[in-house]
Amino acid sequence: MKCLSPSILSADFARLGEQIGILEQAGVQYLHFDVMDGQFVQNISFGMPVLKSLRNYTNLMLDVHLMVTEPARLIDQAADCGADIITVHAEACRDLDHTVRLIKNRNLLAGVALNPATPLSALSYILPVIDMVLVMTVNPGQGGQKLIPYTLDKVRDLKTMIGQQGLKTDIEVDGGIDFETLDTALDAGASIIVAGSAIFHGDIEENTNRFLKMMG
Ligand code: DX5
Ligand code: ZN
Repeated sequence: MKCLSPSILSADFARLGEQIGILEQAGVQYLHFDVMDGQFVQNISFGMPVLKSLRNYTNLMLDVHLMVTEPARLIDQAADCGADIITVHAEACRDLDHTVRLIKNRNLLAGVALNPATPLSALSYILPVIDMVLVMTVNPGQGGQKLIPYTLDKVRDLKTMIGQQGLKTDIEVDGGIDFETLDTALDAGASIIVAGSAIFHGDIEENTNRFLKMMG
């Protein structure tokens, strides 16, 4: 199944609840929640109190993307605040296996994210343990960037790797996905599509319907 995961990084925070309501009405199942710490990436976004408020507000799957150094520190808090999926960066973990197990121990879905230049070999041994791989299709840290084309080669190779191991791991793509790049990302093998500016800039309902239609 293919899922759209709108990134609220591009939302109007003064109207966040209302905008999430529009996504729910349109039939979206996931909500992408980008946590940035000003260290792993330059920007600071939002954190656990906002996640908790959203958990009390919506039943959408909360897809939490931790762009933070040493995310093991935050797993329990993110779980307590209502995350359904927690994704950590391979580049940010001192001990990736340990961090993934902290997520699995809370009975949540575990994702591992790879920056554009990080090779798939970082996943060789951990792939069977995780539920999702987030392939960054831009460098992490801000919305509205252009997709880096070679990252879709990585999605294709990952799809092959998952097939060869007989796994069902989801592939999420994040960054620069819009009406122009969506088709190629889907063709490459992505099953969870993150989109920020392409959803929230302009008419949210119209954009969401258009995405969902293209995703079939
Ligand atoms: C970037 C974030 C993304 C971002 C995507 O570091 O991880 O989730 O919101 O934004 P767009 O879709 O505008 O590239
Ligand atoms: Zn993200």
